Amino acid sequence: MSNKPKILVARAIFAETVDRLRQHFDVQDNPGDALWTPAELAQRLADKDGLLSTGSQRIDAALLAAAPRLKIVANMAVGYNNFDVQAMTAAGVQGTNTPDVLTETTADFGFALLMATARRMTESEHYLRAGKWTQWRYDMFAGSDIHGSTLGIIGMGRIGQGIAKRGAHGFGMKVIYHNRSRLAPALEAECKATYVSKDELLRTADHVVLVLPYTPEAHHTIGSAELALMKPTATLVNIARGGIVDDAALALALKDRRIAAAGLDVFEGEPNVYPDLLTVPNVVLTPHIASATVPTRRAMADLAADNLIAFFGGRGPLTPVNKI
Ligand code: GLV
Repeated sequence: MSNKPKILVARAIFAETVDRLRQHFDVQDNPGDALWTPAELAQRLADKDGLLSTGSQRIDAALLAAAPRLKIVANMAVGYNNFDVQAMTAAGVQGTNTPDVLTETTADFGFALLMATARRMTESEHYLRAGKWTQWRYDMFAGSDIHGSTLGIIGMGRIGQGIAKRGAHGFGMKVIYHNRSRLAPALEAECKATYVSKDELLRTADHVVLVLPYTPEAHHTIGSAELALMKPTATLVNIARGGIVDDAALALALKDRRIAAAGLDVFEGEPNVYPDLLTVPNVVLTPHIASATVPTRRAMADLAADNLIAFFGGRGPLTPVNKI
């Protein structure tokens, strides 16, 4: 019998990363990418020392109680709102995430979604594919400008800063931001970003991009009251987490044209999508793919694996989210 630590890999990941894990651990993986129920996950964790998770496994007190040997959960995501960090710390379980390796790729996507939304790219493509394009018209799919407009960023961590730099330096946008804490002056200068209150941001931005982490306090950061503050010509982009936006309120605001358009990569209750969002035309919808380039997803899987290897090698985790 091997005395290597036993690791569970909860979802399908790159075969090369699993091969690397096998050099250090006794690995049970999930190449068929079965979606285990919490009970099925708990059953597989009963004899495991470590877990490589993705954002779709909830790590809470009930699961931890069923996993008495578990010492570390390495999330293949920068966000870790699937962790009950308090319960993990109380159970002496280390949590890790994958920051930095996805920053630029995710900022690229945030900008792409903003452009697609403001310039009505998917709505116009659907029109063309449906064979409705019979002649040019002066106002056909006329959207709003990106260059020279005001970009409002809520959540000015590493990804928010990446979006700010793209907007300010690449597109001559005026950048305003709101964050739990104000950036150091040197970082504000680098991002050419000005700190404002949330209300001022919502009132003055032409484009609002959400990049804040999900916490209970951040639940419905954007609801009907906030949407009512926005300009009727404004766009809203959410690449943060489902639950940051009240999707029902947003669907109504889009339907009533209280704002011009939205771009959403994340949803409340995903992979389910609030049904009205599927029927309003002025929204661009993508299935939580902001970090999805091959090199970045590979780097995320590798960092999650490196966290497990460093932890069991006695060197401590590389990117911990709690202190045990
Ligand atoms: C993706 O949403 C992540 O948190 O990495």
